[in-house]
Amino acid sequence: MAVARVALEHEHRARREDRREVGAVERVATFDPGHWYEEHTDDVERIVVRGGRPLSGAVPIAGAKNSALKLMASALLAEGDHVLENVPRIVDVEIMSDLLVSMGVDVRRTDEHELTIRVPADVQPEAPYELVERMRASIVVLGPLLGRFGEAHIALPGGDDFGPRPIDMHVRGLEALGASFETSHGYVHARCDQLLGTRVLLEFPSVGATENVLMAAVRAKGTTVIENAAREPEIADLAAFLNRMGGQVVGAGSSTIVIEGVDELVPVRHRVIPDRVETATLLAAVGVAKGEVTLEGARPEHLDMLVQKLGDMGMRISPCSEGLWAAAPTRLRAVDVATLPYPGIATDYKPLFVALLSVAEGVGIVTENLFAGRFRYVDELVRMGADVRTEGHHAVVRGVERLSGAPVRAPDIRAGAALVVAGLGAEGETVVADAHHVARGYEDFGGKLRALGADVEWWHE
Ligand code: EPZ
Repeated sequence: MAVARVALEHEHRARREDRREVGAVERVATFDPGHWYEEHTDDVERIVVRGGRPLSGAVPIAGAKNSALKLMASALLAEGDHVLENVPRIVDVEIMSDLLVSMGVDVRRTDEHELTIRVPADVQPEAPYELVERMRASIVVLGPLLGRFGEAHIALPGGDDFGPRPIDMHVRGLEALGASFETSHGYVHARCDQLLGTRVLLEFPSVGATENVLMAAVRAKGTTVIENAAREPEIADLAAFLNRMGGQVVGAGSSTIVIEGVDELVPVRHRVIPDRVETATLLAAVGVAKGEVTLEGARPEHLDMLVQKLGDMGMRISPCSEGLWAAAPTRLRAVDVATLPYPGIATDYKPLFVALLSVAEGVGIVTENLFAGRFRYVDELVRMGADVRTEGHHAVVRGVERLSGAPVRAPDIRAGAALVVAGLGAEGETVVADAHHVARGYEDFGGKLRALGADVEWWHE
């Protein structure tokens, strides 16, 4: 088996070299899935982690998944060639590419981290079930399709491991702009002759609803004001892209966004912001495994609350010329954590905090305020010897000296990464199954941890 794995890696490396040599332009969506994604496919995959090695060195932070996906969707708003730089090589980008291509858009990977998106004069305004059920974020084509084409047919995104994920705020916001909706056969059908700017008050600062209303409003007649808008850095990145295209968006990143509708947008080049969730994951890896690392390209200003909370646990983290430097002491102190919309502690960081608290000194209470059911990975951590009890949307974590390696299963992207992180500090071997979840949101996760000295392998079956 060992020989087979090494041979496989050699073969992967050789294929990458060939392609890099000829500088092949790859059509992402019509691309044979057996190629640049060979390390990240839907095959049954496992990540094997042998704990106990402190981390050291530097790795680059990839572009943000939760921005890149929305930027790709918003390209629909303008005919022509858009170029996105710093696009992460992850499965979700491939799924969004497949979705755009199914509408008649041409998506090419024109460099290792660059996509060229050629949007035609007309598209098939539909997001089919087989793509939406693979990635809920597909719902963000709704706003741009309504904004530019006045029509959208989107398969209703189902719930997932986090529990019910309704889109009522998306619909309500777009209805306020003048769109009409009907639902049939598992699809939501939206139409409008002309969107009209208005005041949209969101019941909750939903990221997706803010983005859909924003992308529709840039092409509405008149002024739209989104109140109680989400303030995540990815929203500001989307607004920056829309403004480059000729949009007039002010206030993104605050709770009030004002949009002056325009008649036309043009295609542009834009660089995706770095991924703060990947940064948080690698910081947690240092927290559990100990050591000292530099995260190149990380943006400290997007991570204030996280850095403060990890500092309360005893980590030393500071901005540096490359990005962010971090070191962890021998044992972290327990703290209480509550997830909140940005700038609070992100719900995507929560599984990482439960992993950190599992080996911290003392007891920490973790409260989930965004997604009711986001504790499914706790049983897996308990399998590794963690002392975690959940009650409703709270988890009480009593730190233990050390976890022990065990076979566990990743229920979703962030929980999967948190199980790998927990394995870095565990005694013996942890095998994380269903690792394809991790590949959806992390570029070369295994490779980056290995570059920092961890003993981590990615297995294909
Ligand atoms: C985005 O999801 C992210 N996904 C999530 O990251 C992230 O956890 C979440 O924001 C919160 O930060 C992407 O950007 C692709 P919301 P989104 O709308 O937009 C409720 C990851 O791992 N709600 O802000 O779906 C909803 O149920 C993913 O990268 C309604 O009730 O999140 C939730 O409780 C996981 N009705 C809360 O609001 C609505 O119409 C926040 O959801 C919309 C949302």
